[in-house]
Amino acid sequence: MRWLGIETSCDESAVAVVEVGGAGGKGLRLLSSVVGSQIARHRPFGGVVPEVAVREHLRNLPRLAEAALAEARLGTGDLDGIAVTQGPGLATSLLIGHAYARGLGLATGLPVRGVNHLEGHLLSPFLTAEGTVPFPFLGLIVSGGHTLLIEARGWNDYRRLGGTVDDAAGEVFDKVARMLSLGYPGGPEIEKAAAQGDAAAHDFPRAFPERADFRFSFSGLKTSVRYFLEKTPEKLADPRFVADVAASFQKAVVDVLVRKASDAARTRNLRTVIAAGGVACNGALRAALERESGRAGYRLLLAPPVLCTDNAAMIAGVAALKEEAGAALPLPDDIDPNLPLASV
Ligand code: KG4
Ligand code: ZN
Repeated sequence: MRWLGIETSCDESAVAVVEVGGAGGKGLRLLSSVVGSQIARHRPFGGVVPEVAVREHLRNLPRLAEAALAEARLGTGDLDGIAVTQGPGLATSLLIGHAYARGLGLATGLPVRGVNHLEGHLLSPFLTAEGTVPFPFLGLIVSGGHTLLIEARGWNDYRRLGGTVDDAAGEVFDKVARMLSLGYPGGPEIEKAAAQGDAAAHDFPRAFPERADFRFSFSGLKTSVRYFLEKTPEKLADPRFVADVAASFQKAVVDVLVRKASDAARTRNLRTVIAAGGVACNGALRAALERESGRAGYRLLLAPPVLCTDNAAMIAGVAALKEEAGAALPLPDDIDPNLPLASV
């Protein structure tokens, strides 16, 4: 089975082709994955501009679909289905992918499936040659729009254990990077600066420290960094100072993510933990999760960095795996910008 995936939920237009059970084998093979990043277009504004995103998706999608098929050396006649992100995301961006997928479905007669963008992130560590999903497991999804702890119990059976009450983890990386006059998107820039800094230089606050509380809050941390910087604005010109703030801030975020994920795994007795989403590219977070998995004794699976940030392989992959497991759901007629991953 070969599936084409289309992802346009935010500011990346992406198309990918995956194959499951190819050549009599099992598992999932990534045949192509192309991402048309719009970062350069949004950079002058320091964030995603929906109007710009829509125009870019419209312009890029047909060209990316052609490129993904060419890279996989396939035509539409070789496909078994089309998958597209149903939500959550920016309504206007989602609409472009949805309309394009439906059009392609009509033209080719192929089935079209809607995929939850968060389910894509959640299952991205399993888009491997093994291709099986070891339910139950704990999912830490950390991206620009979401910070979630999910108990994945089976196909379409996801329970939300906790999430952010204000900013998402990636969002706060982006905002603090801006305060430090680092580039956009902020996550990779903070990580780069932090590598030269001392994470023990400043003690920034960690919210909801109680062990059984799986809520996250990053706005207090953000405000604390802001007040701290306002005390000595002249120091922002000192790269050493910026590096120390970046490292201390990054440590505060990583500490909270690792501790809550570990507590949730223990409380719910889950022996496999995964981390995915853009922030899961962060080397300090990956290393801290590795250390904690050794200490607490759970199996850790990290999405490969190319599958952490938004991509279409995770959308095609989820559709293909669910189709194979008999767990695919029919495509709703419309997008859903607030589509939840879990019913509870
Ligand atoms: O998953 P993603 O590509 O898009 C969303 O669905 O939101 O995540 C983007 C977010 C941005 O906020 C970006 O700053 C953050 O992921 N990010 C990072 C790193 N790379 C990307 N945050 C921390 N460290 C990184 N290395
Ligand atoms: Zn995402």
